[in-house]
Formats: sequence, structure tokens, C-alpha cells
Amino acid sequence: MKRNIIITGGAGFIGSHVVRLFVNKYPEYKIINLDKLTYAGNLANLKDIEDKPNYRFVKMDICDFEGVLKLMQDEKVDGIIHLAAESHVDRSIKDPFTFAQTNVMGTLSLLQAAKAYWESLPEKYEGKRFYHISTDEVYGALQFDGTLFTETTKYNPHSPYSASKASSDHFVRAFHDTFGMPTIVTNCSNNYGPYQFPEKLIPLFINNIRHRKPLPVYGKGENVRDWLYVVDHARAIDVIFHSGKIAETYNIGGFNEWKNIDIIKVLINTVDRLLGRPEGEDMDLITYVTDRAGHDLRYAIDSTKLQRELGWEPSLQFEEGIEKTVRWYLDNQEWMDNVTSGDYLKYYEDMYDNR
Ligand code: NAD
Ligand code: TYD
Repeated sequence: MKRNIIITGGAGFIGSHVVRLFVNKYPEYKIINLDKLTYAGNLANLKDIEDKPNYRFVKMDICDFEGVLKLMQDEKVDGIIHLAAESHVDRSIKDPFTFAQTNVMGTLSLLQAAKAYWESLPEKYEGKRFYHISTDEVYGALQFDGTLFTETTKYNPHSPYSASKASSDHFVRAFHDTFGMPTIVTNCSNNYGPYQFPEKLIPLFINNIRHRKPLPVYGKGENVRDWLYVVDHARAIDVIFHSGKIAETYNIGGFNEWKNIDIIKVLINTVDRLLGRPEGEDMDLITYVTDRAGHDLRYAIDSTKLQRELGWEPSLQFEEGIEKTVRWYLDNQEWMDNVTSGDYLKYYEDMYDNR
């Protein structure tokens, strides 16, 4: 079956993996990558697929209701996979407005455009799908008591980032309940892998270890995160987009909890080994710094529903995933230098103007 799908945020970390998977796996689909190219968007993440005939890039803000509506009409869009967001907790502490604007108002604008277009068609919502990608952070924080977030855990966000994502999740569900829009929401744990912007823990620390710069560990380094390889998240998105039940929520995660300080030690050992340094030589780069304000203690996802109902499971063990990831960053220093210098932003500034 032919489908015309907008993937928002496709030039970002997770979005680029989703775009790559869909463009390669479904040559009969048209994949439209709608991205504003903020600091986090980088078209170099998609160099390997940018010339494929079933791919189109459109530089656009999700808040641009008229632009999105026209694009949906022009491309006869029948599916939206929505990843575009401001995604970094530390930035949300400094600038919550941008997070409310993109994550809340942008999602609402996208919903309104989809509603306007799909309701104008004779078949209306039949065969359509609005799939919203969210985070486990909306559930709040767990104690060290072995409990897990399930799909029915009460929302309790603490950071401006998670509050804005929680709000967007509510709007998506409201569009199903009020207008009958065929929506799906998924909440995933922390992702790691190639093409992640080096403000997040894993790529930042790999780069710092390589260049022997201090590793700023927030608080005591005892906070726990649940890590999933990004390609496994993209695979889950594929399964859920095609086979997930309308109006359902699915948690995505690989039952892979790590204390920050333990993961940091694994990163140091792996980088040292791959660079031919004595393993553990760079442990003295660990530098404890003031804790993040409102730092959530522990995240841990129960993805039993997704595994049982749709048969998805992670393809990689963590040890294998982290080795691949470290290797990728070490082999792609040019990508890293481009991103850390901001050069990619200048390069793409005026290249794409589709309006
Ligand atoms: P990212 O910051 O790497 O990428 C975000 C992308 O969205 C960028 O390409 C950016 O240019 C684009 N964007 C931002 N504002 C936009 C706007 N107003 N209009 C159009 N495009 C805009 O983010 P990521 O880590 O890839 O996360 C993608 C999605 O997955 C987000 O919705 C995030 O909440 C969710 N998520 C992320 C993680 C994680 O560990 N990274 C885990 C679970 C869920
Ligand atoms: P991050 O990658 O920002 O993801 P999130 O906050 O969405 O979980 O951070 C992962 C964990 O690492 C989190 O507990 C905060 C911690 N952290 C540090 O200790 N130092 C850092 O420099 C960063 C970026 C994160």
C-alpha cells in the first residue's frame, strides 16, 4: 500500500533513524521530513538517504499551521509521526518558553492542521494515523524500590521539558477523545546511539574523554536512567505505526537500568581501550558538579505491553550497543567537530526554502 507520511523532527537524533528506516524499508511510501533545523537538527545525519526518490525534506516550523496544512494537502498526507521537539532538560530549565512554544503549541498546531485536512476529505479519518512520540519523563521520578513506569502510571512531570511533553501528550489524546482522530502515543526511555547531539550525557562524555576534558557529573552520579539503543526505538516506532491500536499508549524500553556513574565508567574504559590507552586511565576526568535543579532520581520503563501485544523486543544487548556507539563517535570526529563548532547551521541556513 502506498502511504504519504510526514515525519517531524527527522533531522534530529531519533528522527533521523526513523526517517532512514522508513525510506529504506518502504520504497513505495513517500517520506516527508518536516524539520525547522534548530541547533539540534542536522541534515548531515541523513546524507546516506537524501537522494532517494521516496524522500523529501521540508524546512518548516511545526507551529506554522498554514504551512503544514498546505503541505498535507499538496502531499495527500495520511500519516504523521511526530518527533519534533525541544528535548534537552538543562535547556528547559534555562528557557521554558521555547519548550512550551514548540512542544505544546507546535503539537497543537500540527493536530489542528491534521484535523482540518483529514476532516475535509470524504473518507475523513479512515486509514489515517497521528502518532506522537513522547518520553518516560512525563511519569515523574521513581525511588530505588524496583517499581517501573507502566502505561497507567499517573503523570507527574517535574522539569519544564517533561511538563511540556506531558501537556502535548494530553492534547493528542484529547483530539482522539473529542474529534475521533486516530492517535497513538508512545513513551520511551533514554535513547543512545549515533547522531545524538553532544549536549546529552553519552555523546558529550565520549567526546570529552577523547579530548581529555573534565566529565561534569551532576550530584553524586547516582541517578538512574533506562537506556535503549536508538535503532531499537526506531524499530518499535515502525511496528507501532503499522500495527498499534488506535488510542492506545505503549511504553518503549529495554529493561536496562544504569546508575550514571556506572555508565560513565563503562564509557571511560571503552574509549580508552578503543584509543589504545590503558583501560581506566581517564577515570580522573570524573568531576562532581552541582546537581541539576529538580534532578529526577530514577526512570525505569515496563515495556511488557509492547513486547506481548506487538512482539517487539530490543535487538541489541547494552554492551554491544555501547561499543558500537563509542566506535561510531570515535570514527566520526568530523561530524562531532561540525556539530560542536556550529558550522552545520551556517552551511544549511539558506539552502532549503520550500515555502
Ligand atoms: P533532538 O533534539 O535530537 O531533535 C529534535 C528535532 O526537532 C531537531 O531536528 C529539531 O530541528 C526539530 N525541531 C525542534 N523544534 C522544531 C519546530 N518548532 N518545528 C520543526 N522542527 C523542530 O531530539 P531527539 O532526542 O531526537 O527526540 C525526538 C523526540 O523523541 C522528542 O519528541 C523527544 O521528546 C522524544 N524522546 C527522546 C528521547 C531521548 O532519549 N532522546 C527519549 C524518549 C523520547
Ligand atoms: P541527559 O542525557 O541530559 O538525559 P535526561 O536528562 O533526559 O535523562 O542526562 C542523562 C543523565 O545524566 C541525567 O541523570 C543527567 C546526567 N548528566 C550529568 O550527570 N552530566 C551531564 O553533563 C549531563 C548532560 C547529564
